[in-house]
Amino acid sequence: MFKAEVYTARRKQLREMLSGGLVFLPGNDEASMNYPANTYHYRQDSDFLYYFGHDHDGLSGLIDADEGKDILVGDDVTMDDIIWMGQQPLIKNQAMKCGTENTLSKSKLGEYIQGAINAGRKVHILPPYRGDRWLSLEAIFGMKHGEIKKFISQELIEAVVKMRSVKDADEIIEIEKAVDVAYLMHTTSMKMAMPGIKEQEIAGAVEGVSLSHGGPVSFPVILSVDGQTLHNHNHHNILKEGRMMVTDAGSESSLHYASDITRTVPVGGKFNTRQREIYEIVLKANMVTIEAMKPGVYFKDIHLLAARTIADGLKELGIMKGDTEEIVNAGAHALFFPHGLGHMMGLDVHDMEGLGENNVGYDETIQRSDQFGLAFLRFGKKLEPGFVLTIEPGIYFIPALIDLWKSEGKFTEFINYDKAETYKDFGGIRIEDDILVTGDGHRVLGKPIPKTVAEVEALMNKE
Ligand code: GLY
Ligand code: MN
Repeated sequence: MFKAEVYTARRKQLREMLSGGLVFLPGNDEASMNYPANTYHYRQDSDFLYYFGHDHDGLSGLIDADEGKDILVGDDVTMDDIIWMGQQPLIKNQAMKCGTENTLSKSKLGEYIQGAINAGRKVHILPPYRGDRWLSLEAIFGMKHGEIKKFISQELIEAVVKMRSVKDADEIIEIEKAVDVAYLMHTTSMKMAMPGIKEQEIAGAVEGVSLSHGGPVSFPVILSVDGQTLHNHNHHNILKEGRMMVTDAGSESSLHYASDITRTVPVGGKFNTRQREIYEIVLKANMVTIEAMKPGVYFKDIHLLAARTIADGLKELGIMKGDTEEIVNAGAHALFFPHGLGHMMGLDVHDMEGLGENNVGYDETIQRSDQFGLAFLRFGKKLEPGFVLTIEPGIYFIPALIDLWKSEGKFTEFINYDKAETYKDFGGIRIEDDILVTGDGHRVLGKPIPKTVAEVEALMNKE
């Protein structure tokens, strides 16, 4: 945990941002996998972590913006718990560790919240994202989930997004720790990407690196020579010379801050001409867009810069044709770059996505596009110092999408389908880094991970 003052200050700021009312922040419970006592790896709720810091089940928090106080809700463990889980701190001491003296037993929580509702006070909750949460809310609120929905508070969502979007120095340290573990995960993956090995061996080693450095992976490892499938969690292929392997993987620090890095390497450690040509375009898109990161710039414009860079590069190879501006305005480049350039990252790898992508990435100055490709841009708004975002351009040759667009005669003025079809066996390339927006520009977080053709080849061929 951070020092108690950090959580006290965050809750005070939140109370001051709200017009009043009582905020209820439930922590996560254990979730069963295949029978009740066999649980998934425990992950605390990120909003609870942000305001109360404690990292185990059985807790929730109340932030009272009317009375100016905060309460940690939970109970002291029983002897049975101690036998199975070991000694645990008293709830009173846990409250002190997150900067409050107030505690409430779980058995009194329903009465407390229903009392506030009956007194006509505003009660704020965030959108639940687990099924079991609705059941516990029904018990606490004494009403059906349809009625509970009206307590999901846009005012609270906006305040939390405003606060969590700007990372302080201690949070950046945590993120950089996670990126440094990602350095080890990715260099491990690169060195193992040799002909004859199974993807699952590499994926297992990559996840093992994360676990052995103290944290789980920040999302299930994406690793495949079929990189044209954007989130490929199947690791059943055997690597063969001539293919590119995408590894998209990150770690969580011990305080649960994420990293999210992608590297794509040629199996065997040497780029052939076709691989290098496509790789250099993606690399350029990655580097020019990182350079463009600074306060006051709309991230949507940086996404469009990536799109133009990709369209220009594909034009040089004869895969696209026509005016670059017209290609990007029409969305024709999205055949090869069908996703957004990046997303916020913090306590969640897609930070705060549970609060609604548009609440995080868009505001009254910028609406989300519904154009194919651009519609997947999770974050479009103006950058501010303290924001952390990924930059992850890619080029993919998705046979089914090429076939569909060709059969529809789509963008024949911009796409040279005969040429594109010769890449149907190529796969995909994505290159992703984690970027902090600073006061006057940006900083790429963590230890630099080999990225240029020369760097990747040097690492893969090192004895
Ligand atoms: N790294 C996976 C994603 O950003 O969606
Ligand atoms: Mn990402």
